[in-house]
Amino acid sequence: MNAVASAKSVLRSRVKRILGRAGFDIVRSTRVQGGVDDFLPFEATMRAAKAAGLSIGDHIDEVMNGTPGATRFTIDELRGLGVYAAEPETVLEIGPGSGRYLEKTLKECSPGRYEIYETAAPWADYLVSTFGVVARPTSGSSLAPTPDGSVDLVQAHKVFNTVTFLCAVRYFYEMARVTRPGGRIVFDVMTETCLDPDTVHAWATKGGSGHDSYPAAMPRRMCVDLFETLGCTLEAGFPAPMGVASTEVLVFRKNA
Ligand SMILES: C[S@@+](CC[C@H](N)C(=O)[O-])C[C@H]1O[C@@H](n2cnc3c(N)ncnc32)[C@H](O)[C@@H]1O
Repeated sequence: MNAVASAKSVLRSRVKRILGRAGFDIVRSTRVQGGVDDFLPFEATMRAAKAAGLSIGDHIDEVMNGTPGATRFTIDELRGLGVYAAEPETVLEIGPGSGRYLEKTLKECSPGRYEIYETAAPWADYLVSTFGVVARPTSGSSLAPTPDGSVDLVQAHKVFNTVTFLCAVRYFYEMARVTRPGGRIVFDVMTETCLDPDTVHAWATKGGSGHDSYPAAMPRRMCVDLFETLGCTLEAGFPAPMGVASTEVLVFRKNA
């Protein structure tokens, strides 16, 4: 570790200690609670990232989740699959939270409209004022304000492993509805490919206390079959780090 990296690491430990003493709980992704404002308190998280000299996304990856480069990895994989080369004019993201994927998506492409559906108001407000995205009224699993076939890229990252089965599948129908023919649907879920016996053991023994629906598993076959009936074909799947293990990112294309 060079001198700068070592100084940053010391600073991060100090910030954590100071915030801890001040009553702020810097939690890891294995303790996801209802909304991102519960598990990532807006003010404290922003302050901690600033003090560590990191972007909010890098702070979450490196300091809070202990998975440096995790967001970058997924974005790089999606670039390799041609998701951004398609130059999406309209992007819709469900549950962007701190905006760590949103920020990197906007570095890869320049959509004219970027809609978000986010239940945590402080983070939604921050994303609107920082990136000029459009926050849609968000309740349950509805994308009702977005017209049919109007979006080129619909995405959700680290959302469907935190909500109930019904919340996720209701969003799946909506994602297929709003996607334009030829458009992409990208999301990650904790499928059976992420759950070999050793990994299940890791979750059971090192996965923290969990919370309600987190971590939620989702059958891969069901996703593929369901989206097929909705006119969407699976193009690719790849693992992405999450908590003590991983989720699987699925990339679908809406049939033209
Ligand atoms: C684990 S966080 C992931 C945040 C972000 N995508 C990331 O990877 O850093 C889950 C996000 O989904 C949001 N969320 C939870 N339920 C939701 C719902 N029904 N509709 C939209 N967003 C929701 C939470 O507020 C939070 O921002």
